[in-house]
Amino acid sequence: MNDFGYDVSDYRNVDPLFGNLENFDTLIAEAHERDIKVLIDFVPNHTSSDHPWFKAALESRDNPYRDYYIFKDPKSAGSETHTTLPPNNWLSVFGGSAWEYDGASGQYYYHAFLAEQPDLNWENPAVQEEMANIIRFWFDRGVDGIRVDAIRWMGKDLEFRDDPENPHFKTGQDPYHMVRHIHSRFGPRQEDYLRVMTSVAREYEDKIIIWEDHRDTLTPVPQQIKRIHGVDPEVSAPFIFEPMHTPFSSQAFANMVNTNQQHLGKDLQPFYCFGNHDEHRLVTRFGEKQARMLAVMQLMLPGTPVLYYGQELGMPDATIHKDQVQDPFEKRVPDRGLGRDPERSPMPWNNGPNAGFTTAATPWLPLIDDYRHINVETELEDKNSFLWLHKTLLDLRREHPVFYEPSYEHAYVDDAVFAFWRTNETEQFLTILNFSESEAEFYAPEGGKLVVSAQGHDYDDQLPVFAKINALDGVVLRYG
Ligand code: NOJ
Repeated sequence: MNDFGYDVSDYRNVDPLFGNLENFDTLIAEAHERDIKVLIDFVPNHTSSDHPWFKAALESRDNPYRDYYIFKDPKSAGSETHTTLPPNNWLSVFGGSAWEYDGASGQYYYHAFLAEQPDLNWENPAVQEEMANIIRFWFDRGVDGIRVDAIRWMGKDLEFRDDPENPHFKTGQDPYHMVRHIHSRFGPRQEDYLRVMTSVAREYEDKIIIWEDHRDTLTPVPQQIKRIHGVDPEVSAPFIFEPMHTPFSSQAFANMVNTNQQHLGKDLQPFYCFGNHDEHRLVTRFGEKQARMLAVMQLMLPGTPVLYYGQELGMPDATIHKDQVQDPFEKRVPDRGLGRDPERSPMPWNNGPNAGFTTAATPWLPLIDDYRHINVETELEDKNSFLWLHKTLLDLRREHPVFYEPSYEHAYVDDAVFAFWRTNETEQFLTILNFSESEAEFYAPEGGKLVVSAQGHDYDDQLPVFAKINALDGVVLRYG
């Protein structure tokens, strides 16, 4: 639990903190009974330093497990070799050098994240085989898919060349960005490694792989879409995390969606993600009304929307005091707002003790300040809640086949409004989003019926021609 589960010491078990394999089987069976699919997180880039493979690797330079990891000699300076010089300048995402010196063998080992998370050597066929078997283990147990962690780090430059300096770096920014990660990430063999996993998925009828991949600023978007979506689109696709980094403006969101839709076409499926456990929550980033409007946007877009727990409640970040910090990132690179604890606070189920999350005296992280109002039980009783807005939108998706289809058509964008169509031969839905804090004009075609308003307006005086959208509202009109 150095990185809360992203440091795996046994790939074929459940951490006793959370239960055991029998509980897991029950979970899968009960979920399937209710027609719910279960995906699990899979971490192939690194193990825990407590993993028996790594312990064996540390035993000696010629241990068979040594080559499961990446050990290198210190860099030599002139004729001398200094143990203080790591093999290259690659940085750890969580601060400092990505190399840790092992005094016993006189070599460094590589870790893109914590020193307790040594990277696996995917060039080693034995590692590939082990990881493929682990995926089979979970697929055979009934897991429907995997979310694959940190894929961009799996591919490394085969010569381990230094990353060049980043000329745009400014003091005060995350020090990881001091260099441009062109060699430590996206190595030439990344796609081959990903195919090891997709070929396992292909051995089964109905398994799915979602890659954890961010867009970067080094490569043009169409090329990036091709690189990861193209690996094996029948069984895999990456998350689209851009909504988490797009500024709140109609033009920026329209541009982000239109670029993706244009290059994905009808065959590649988007997984738009507006929040996750590594980024500050939507409500905290933009505000409540803004988040309601973006819920309409996300759930009306094509593809598979991915909601982060609590997003459906309008849950904001929690306040984390210094003595409550859990995240190793915040501990190592403090006070820059990089810590991920605020978005990881307990799920608020009700307004009782600890919001119904735990019967323990204190939960692992503090609750959100306003859990007495923002919780499942309370929101279920209020038809104007975030939860009901999400339910309405999800019902709409479920009831209309057009939302299962890939159709998407840009309708309009200006400095306030972004609008798009979802249509097929029998149904037409127009989503209109007003990003401005005042009323905006938009002439929607006559005959649309209002099916959703993010802010709960009825627009009775507007129909049949829709002309004015209230501040920060997201409305869906149905035609036909
Ligand atoms: C990405 C995960 O989302 C993050 O939480 C984790 O710290 C790193 N990968 C390392 O596994």
